[in-house]
Amino acid sequence: MKIELEEEIFGIIAEFAAKNNYEVYVIGGYVRDLLLKTPSKDIDFVIVGDGVEFAKELAKELNRKQVSIFKNFGTAMFKYKDWELEFVGARKESYSRYSRKPKVTVGTVEDDQKRRDFTINALAISLNKSNLYELIDPFNGLDDLKNKIIRTPLLPDITFSDDPLRMLRGIRFATRLNFEIHKEAFDAIKKNKERIKIVSQERISDELNKILSTAKPSKGLKLLYDTGLLEIIFPELSALAGIETINGIKHKDIFLHTLKVVDTISQKTDNLWLRWAALLHDIGKPATKKFIDNNWTFRAHQTVGAKMIPSIFRRMRLPMNEKMKYVIKLVELHHRPISLVNEPVTDSAIRRLIFDAGEQLEDLMMLVESDITTQFYDKKQKFLQNFSDLRKKIKYVAENDFIRNWQPPIDGNEIMKILNLPPSKIVGELKNEIK
Ligand code: CTP
Repeated sequence: MKIELEEEIFGIIAEFAAKNNYEVYVIGGYVRDLLLKTPSKDIDFVIVGDGVEFAKELAKELNRKQVSIFKNFGTAMFKYKDWELEFVGARKESYSRYSRKPKVTVGTVEDDQKRRDFTINALAISLNKSNLYELIDPFNGLDDLKNKIIRTPLLPDITFSDDPLRMLRGIRFATRLNFEIHKEAFDAIKKNKERIKIVSQERISDELNKILSTAKPSKGLKLLYDTGLLEIIFPELSALAGIETINGIKHKDIFLHTLKVVDTISQKTDNLWLRWAALLHDIGKPATKKFIDNNWTFRAHQTVGAKMIPSIFRRMRLPMNEKMKYVIKLVELHHRPISLVNEPVTDSAIRRLIFDAGEQLEDLMMLVESDITTQFYDKKQKFLQNFSDLRKKIKYVAENDFIRNWQPPIDGNEIMKILNLPPSKIVGELKNEIK
């Protein structure tokens, strides 16, 4: 099957390759996304032979002076117009860039494809005269793309042991593209989950953030839980799962509740840290859970949860700056609006919320509104109405305070001077009129 490659860059590279006797293919994410009709600006090329040398020569031809060479990985990269072009030589052995094994031998394009993570990422398009723009698909990636399946080109045990991060990448792609992980790959993740421990925390957190940035993060979070990876990479979150029953009284599954909250907020915002706040809003619940007077309680879980955040962020190498403070604040305050919806509420209580939430008030309201996950329609509408009333009260108090505290640009003395008036009632009246 031939693939339309309209961008001029492909023609240029194909011509250059023919002239200089190179065998070159477009490969990886670009091809996948192109076939999904969402092509990106990053293009990976695989060269049968020396990828770095090819990149250097091509850059020279295109008058690009800046070529970044990553010796350890055998890759080179440069920018051309708004494209980011990356070049690598085809490898036979493990994909050294992503694996701990440095051993790499030169291979054919198919050798290289089979060492990639998933069939949908192993699709290549030829830039060679003999089969120009032909799709090279020895592992049926196109079928998997059509059938929405995440599958490894080799036995999943081999693919995942080449690079255990791929277990998370598979879950990320399944979430982002709304694909299913093939059963064998899923089972292999379950089996190899402990191997994730050899991957650096930065790369794990990067994948977690990417999952959290998708349209429906619950899919990935659930997969992480079901494979057992979550328990290893995020035990506090995993600990939210499950239901306990005493005297026939049970509490809800806090993990499933959290997933709903995260999905709901993700429909309203792309702010990753607001999504993190949703993910962590009930993180203090397991530690505060008690069965008192025939009822489940989680007293002060928001305070306890907020206190857990710095250690979670530190361990996960997430930024311990104002972003973390923002998440802490939202988690800490996420019960305040709820306590204010019941009449009567004083202006000063509202004022305290406005002051404590500061610029994050709108985000806090978004969080508490997303926190309503009851499946009973009437109940949900009632809660939403309560928050809508609270928003009105907040607006009213804020506006009144603003007017009360607002200083007119001109004071009594100036009014007297400009209008040549003696101190009198009219000066005060004029001042109020201006205000
Ligand atoms: N790859 C791999 N194993 C990894 C990482 C990457 O086999 N652990 C291969 C895949 O073929 C992938 C390509 O390298 O398509 C490029 O990797 P990367 O840029 O990380 O991902 P993309 O697939 O381009 O997807 P995205 O940019 O959306 O993350």
